[in-house]
Amino acid sequence: MRVLVTQPIPEIGIHLLQARCEVVYLKRRLSREEILDLATDADAIVCSVTDRIDQVVFDIASQLKVVSNVAVGYDNIDLMTASARGVVVTNTPNTLIDSVAEFVFAHILAVTRRIVESDRYVRTGQFTGWTLELMLGREIKGKTMGVIGFGRIGQALVPMARGFGMKILYANTHGEVEQYASNPEVQHASIDVVLREADYVVLLVPLSPQTRHLITYDRLTQMKRDAVLINMARGLVVREADLVRALSEKVIAGAGLDVYEFEPQVTKELLDMPNVVLTPHIGSATHEARNRMAERAAQNVLDVLFTGSSAFTVNTPV
Ligand code: GLV
Repeated sequence: MRVLVTQPIPEIGIHLLQARCEVVYLKRRLSREEILDLATDADAIVCSVTDRIDQVVFDIASQLKVVSNVAVGYDNIDLMTASARGVVVTNTPNTLIDSVAEFVFAHILAVTRRIVESDRYVRTGQFTGWTLELMLGREIKGKTMGVIGFGRIGQALVPMARGFGMKILYANTHGEVEQYASNPEVQHASIDVVLREADYVVLLVPLSPQTRHLITYDRLTQMKRDAVLINMARGLVVREADLVRALSEKVIAGAGLDVYEFEPQVTKELLDMPNVVLTPHIGSATHEARNRMAERAAQNVLDVLFTGSSAFTVNTPV
């Protein structure tokens, strides 16, 4: 069995694959042309969010049995075509929950306590004396975190938020989560109520036709003026031009963004906004998570190739 790995992944995943398969691994990110070239006789492709696995790839890779995404999201893969061709698509959902949840707090605290702005202030020699008014922020204790998309990562925020003394309000397409039904500190609400009442609105929805441009200027005007938007989901969930407008007009107080509508490009105006913290799509970028992701993705390939199925299948191949 031949496995094509499209970009560098932790060795643990490569070793697992090499024990049972022939692995085509160039230890660098392959271009689209290289992927198309090397996929022709691949039984499996191990890829990630930057690889567009579309109909062209499926047309070329006639032997393909499994596409294993080293990520929880899989909007980079054409699931309809995969299913129609009988190709299994898998992801790595349980491997990165805490890393991403912790990173939500990194953003909340960075925006609220002006950490990036303060760092720049010190580095550029502007710190010439302490004053009581320097870099004032806010406490997060007692504030409400609004979570839009209350899946595994959203739920992992609960004990962390409670530790900080925050309340949680969540909007979820699957409705109220039973486990929190009688918890007054963790309440289910409509997206309108979440936007209206939260001090932090955290986006954790997968990208789909329903969530594309979920956050527009109108939605942002529903938020409190001192609220902060955190996007840990996909860039396309937010219409970035609308966010820039809302931030410029002080419709909301700030934003923490890990993903961008035109990734890896970032709307220029955001670069000059001190109340916005920008990170390069690194929510799951910890050694722990990345090792688990690579191991899971490799195991998903082996499960499909040698047992016919994986517990982490996200489509219904025919
Ligand atoms: C990263 O964005 C992922 O979906 O795992």
